[in-house]
Amino acid sequence: MRIDILTILPELLEGPFNHSIIKRAIDKQIAEIHIHNIRDYSKNKHKKVDDYAYSIGAGMVMTIQPIADLIDKLKAERTYDAIIFTTPDGVPYEQKHANRLSGVENIMILCGHYKGVDQRVRDHYITHEFSIGDYVLTGGELAAAVISDSIIRLIPGAMSDETSALSDSFQDGLLSPPVYTRPSNYKGWKVPDILLSGDEKKINDWKMQQAIEKTQNIRPDLLENMD
Ligand code: 6GU
Repeated sequence: MRIDILTILPELLEGPFNHSIIKRAIDKQIAEIHIHNIRDYSKNKHKKVDDYAYSIGAGMVMTIQPIADLIDKLKAERTYDAIIFTTPDGVPYEQKHANRLSGVENIMILCGHYKGVDQRVRDHYITHEFSIGDYVLTGGELAAAVISDSIIRLIPGAMSDETSALSDSFQDGLLSPPVYTRPSNYKGWKVPDILLSGDEKKINDWKMQQAIEKTQNIRPDLLENMD
């Protein structure tokens, strides 16, 4: 898989992909991430990438020209399965989107900024608009990193224990049950006896029970939306 990220703040994206599972996936050439600086494509003599909105007091808006030139260049090189725009007024990003996107070949992510991007970019290039939650970030870069991470970890071979992605919170519509490791007794804080019993059926029943209880307490909305 190849992910191209288009941003005016490439420095913000240097950190997130250089560690752990994502770094390993890149090293193993399961995934490629290419960061592009939108400013490099500006034909403005001061390399400007924004301008005043056509409305009073609305702040700055990212202009079409550098973004369009960069997207056109990339689209001429390969076919994109998804061109994503990260924006707080997008569709709430969910695990089901990560699952679907993990099966495609080429993804482009345009990071939103300022008060937004000229609507014509959204109308003519963007195939998916995602928000990562009901709060406002200074830019779409962190959201692009979140979305990329959630997709790459699902590509076969990215995780050492491939079955573990299936037991993630949300994959079965429930939050994950609690987990424990050694020691079985830390200063009197004990691991539940059932986990030490060796009875696989009882342990699985207990995990399911815990997952349901936890979901009821923290995310009852997930149970209501279950099919
Ligand atoms: Cl995708 N962008 C920004 N700027 N803020 C957000 C967001 C995205 N998702 C939630 N808040």
